[in-house]
Amino acid sequence: MGIETDILGDWHAAYAALVWQQELGGFDPVGDAPLNRYELAEPVREPAAPVAAARRSAAPVAEPRVDAVAEARRAAAAATTLEELRAAISAYGHCELKRGAKSTVFCDGLPQARVMVIGEAPGRDEDIEGRPFVGRAGQLLDRMFAAIGLRRDSADAATGLYITNVMPWRPPSNREPTAEEMAMMGPFLARHAALIDPEVIVVMGNTPAQAVLGSRGITRLRGSWAQAWGKPVLPMLHPAYLLRNPAAKREAWADLLALQARLRG
Ligand code: URA
Repeated sequence: MGIETDILGDWHAAYAALVWQQELGGFDPVGDAPLNRYELAEPVREPAAPVAAARRSAAPVAEPRVDAVAEARRAAAAATTLEELRAAISAYGHCELKRGAKSTVFCDGLPQARVMVIGEAPGRDEDIEGRPFVGRAGQLLDRMFAAIGLRRDSADAATGLYITNVMPWRPPSNREPTAEEMAMMGPFLARHAALIDPEVIVVMGNTPAQAVLGSRGITRLRGSWAQAWGKPVLPMLHPAYLLRNPAAKREAWADLLALQARLRG
């Protein structure tokens, strides 16, 4: 009797617990036919709507690639005055050099001048002052052109000089601009020359020779007139090179005389 009561008691207690769990929705304990749940397809569980939306927005989205050169072309073409061009260059955000520079060095001299000089890029002094060619190389450049009667501070188109650079921002440690940086700023330089519309362009050194004429080798190119953007172009040695190689001033003097002869002729 004692044993029977215990077994029955256990059975009733177990059954009551089972019914209670079933009422709570815990599981479906007994079916009429056996069911192999391993053969059932995995149910597809859709996350709740807000979770799904959050996942969608967190998924990595491919950034559309910006064509920095096309952007430069568009911005440069839209500039119809020098001030608009200066503003377009200042607003152009694709060139990394801009981040490290203090100034956007745009130009100096007389916009009506017959001669436009194009250098490479600002150095430390130019970055501080915000004007091209104000350091040692710039002082030599001023003396060189003054020797044939041209000055950046002249108010007369016949004796004035207009000066700019391929790059408006100082490269770190004065390194040469990369091909990519030059490609970005090329459309601005071409627009700059079109707006100034000088009679003659002088490119000083390899970087502007590359940017304007598409070729390097300034010691070979110097002194030979070339053509770009519908203008006569004279490649010359960079004044920084002349400071390091004073013997080459002889060639620079010959090139200045060739420029003078062209302006007189
Ligand atoms: N060298 C350049 O080419 N440009 C400057 O403005 C100064 C130094």
